[in-house]
Amino acid sequence: MEIGFIGLGRMGKNMVLRLLKDNHRVVVWNRSPEPVKEVEKKGAVPSSDIEDLVNKLQSKPKIIWIMLPAGDVTDKMIKKVALILQHGDIIIDGGNSNFRDSIEHYKELKQKNIEFMDIGVSGGLKGAEVGYCMMVGGNKSIYKKMQPLFKSLCIKEGFAYIGKNGSGHYIKMIHNAIEYGMMQAIAEGFDLLANGHYKDLKLDEIADVWSHGSIITSFLMDMTASALKKDDKLSYLKPYVDDSGEGRWAAKEAIDQAVPFLVNTFAVQSRFASREKNSFAYRMLAAIRNEFGGHPIKKK
Ligand SMILES: NC(=O)c1ccc[n+]([C@@H]2O[C@H](COP(=O)([O-])OP(=O)(O)OC[C@H]3O[C@@H](n4cnc5c(N)ncnc54)[C@H](OP(=O)(O)O)[C@@H]3O)[C@@H](O)[C@H]2O)c1
Repeated sequence: MEIGFIGLGRMGKNMVLRLLKDNHRVVVWNRSPEPVKEVEKKGAVPSSDIEDLVNKLQSKPKIIWIMLPAGDVTDKMIKKVALILQHGDIIIDGGNSNFRDSIEHYKELKQKNIEFMDIGVSGGLKGAEVGYCMMVGGNKSIYKKMQPLFKSLCIKEGFAYIGKNGSGHYIKMIHNAIEYGMMQAIAEGFDLLANGHYKDLKLDEIADVWSHGSIITSFLMDMTASALKKDDKLSYLKPYVDDSGEGRWAAKEAIDQAVPFLVNTFAVQSRFASREKNSFAYRMLAAIRNEFGGHPIKKK
């Protein structure tokens, strides 16, 4: 097949390389030129700007995959591409966009007779090698026509049509919320191992053995083992955990729907707590405990 690809970051570049390996024609654009040069060497067609990218696509309908940071950057790019595309052409947003934004994009593009597909992509850096997992929202007949692309991009049986517009990103949001909870559980388990009854446990070896046949075997456990092998004290890191939105959106959605969502909500809050260098709340907590029970406090 033929596809235009915008955004050659950690995800986009590897996805393009997988498409090229299966001989799809891929026309690419990226803000900085280096990744374009890199994929050009593997057979991608470079373009100088978005108009050039669209013009270099020869088949109809034209398909453009956008793989950019969610929010403003993706929103502006969708609008820019839509100005150049024609009736029947297809825009895909493969980033971690908020499903409500995707519903809006679908409605806006519908007025111009441009199709919009929202695709949740999972697999991270490992996906480059083994293939990704994709959750597709939008028009089912387009999903069916795009099967050759999904087969090249994804692990065997690792893609599915989810439902109408927005649902691909909705499912990805909940996938990431589950991921937040699993990561929190792993992190706390290793904290107890590191600071519990048995001192000097070999954490990397424990993660490694858990990665072989245990019930908690997972990509996340593999990655835990890999990080601990590099430095089992993680001493090079500050205890600061970022988030990119999906956990917050899922927690809000659970409140809106009155669905209990304890683990993800706690995990998101825990990430916020990790960023408080001089938290008033924790100082307040220590002070109250000291007041009511004379519990010891640590002074600056
Ligand atoms: N990383 C993951 O594990 C993962 C997994 C699933 C989905 N996603 C989602 O996939 C999308 C891309 O993620 P990524 O990890 O590939 O991100 P990334 O490595 O940070 O790459 C971001 C890409 O966006 C481009 N970009 C950033 N700001 C831009 C702007 N203002 N105008 C034009 N281009 C801009 C960058 O161009 P330059 O090269 O010029 O900086 C780069 O190509 C995000 O929505 C992310 O949430 C990520």
